[in-house]
Amino acid sequence: MNDRFLRACRRQPVDRTPLWIMRQAGRYLPEYRELRRKVDFLTLCKTPELAVAASLQPLRRFPLDASIIFSDILLPLEALGVRMTFNPGPKLAEPVRTRVQVDALESRPAAEAVPFVADAVRLLRRELDGRTPVIGFCGAPFTLAAYLVQGEGKEGFGAVKTMLFREPATLGHLLEKLTAAMTDYLRLQIAAGAQAVQIFDSWAGLLAPMQYERFALRWVRAIVDGVADLGVPVIYFVNGAPHLLEDAVTSGADVLGLCWRTPLDVAAARVGPGIALQGNLDPHALFAEPAEVTRLAADVLSRVAGRPGHIMNLGHGILPDTPIASVEALVAAVQATARRDAATAPSACTT
Ligand code: CP3
Repeated sequence: MNDRFLRACRRQPVDRTPLWIMRQAGRYLPEYRELRRKVDFLTLCKTPELAVAASLQPLRRFPLDASIIFSDILLPLEALGVRMTFNPGPKLAEPVRTRVQVDALESRPAAEAVPFVADAVRLLRRELDGRTPVIGFCGAPFTLAAYLVQGEGKEGFGAVKTMLFREPATLGHLLEKLTAAMTDYLRLQIAAGAQAVQIFDSWAGLLAPMQYERFALRWVRAIVDGVADLGVPVIYFVNGAPHLLEDAVTSGADVLGLCWRTPLDVAAARVGPGIALQGNLDPHALFAEPAEVTRLAADVLSRVAGRPGHIMNLGHGILPDTPIASVEALVAAVQATARRDAATAPSACTT
């Protein structure tokens, strides 16, 4: 089995840096767009055979080192009774803005509310047959609350920040419910066969350090603690948060996923050696010419060359119009590090 991704999560030696790409199954792939012409996004997520087909698409093209379950961070909120549509971004039937609405959220087990996710994990494991490990995922409570309170994606997510300062107890109550639901949801995915899990905190960077611990980090820590007994590596991806790195590293996760704003060597010096790092090529870098992509990817890799525990990735999800040739250049840059390491490593039989 290809386990260099799992080994890097645990900061164990690897033959070369592993690579996967956030949102690797998506609209930059013509075959994904083809699939979406036949079926809407929610049906795709809720039909295990189709979700697995989408997960496998990027692996057919590129020798990536991990596969991620095809779903969305908002989908498990159906277990709380939340209804939503996607076009292409999420829109909730009704934003959750009051204490009464928070109290009314249901707490159905994920196994009942979203059984198709567990089925997709099992099927994907079977189809991959050890070719790559399978990553499960969830949204972090603050990021989910940002969508729930706003009702949709919106620059700045003003509604959740207003609730934070006006009604902190209501937001705290919402975050507590989301934490319980996401712990249950990740446990379901791990029980079904997910070999690592990633917690996406896409919007925690909107918080100052003074609010980050109370409204984001402590809930992530609770989820990490809540799955620790299952023994799979946990990745905590925190976007837009160069001002929060020293705090984020205390989440308890095995891997800190970084956005593109902090050079990896600087991040490594700030967080110390006790955690693996994932990232962090700027997704827009893939709009450069392939030769420049190669140079930029090599730069990211070189910043942590020799530091145990690096997983190559973008600093956020791959963008819909990304050229395939750029992804090929990224793959080649990662593979070149293995050849370079082999060329510079002392020969095993010189002594
Ligand atoms: O390969 C994969 O990673 C696919 C699985 C996946 C999707 N969304 C599929 C998707 C994952 C891991 C996500 C996570 C997700 N979803 C996040 C966290 C990562 C991040 O980008 O910060 C967030 C914030 C969402 C919420 C969301 N879902 C948005 C903002 C959008 C619209 C914008 C966009 O990027 O498309 C979605 C829709 C969505 N989720 C699509 C896909 C493939 C596009 C839907 C379509 O096919 O029309």
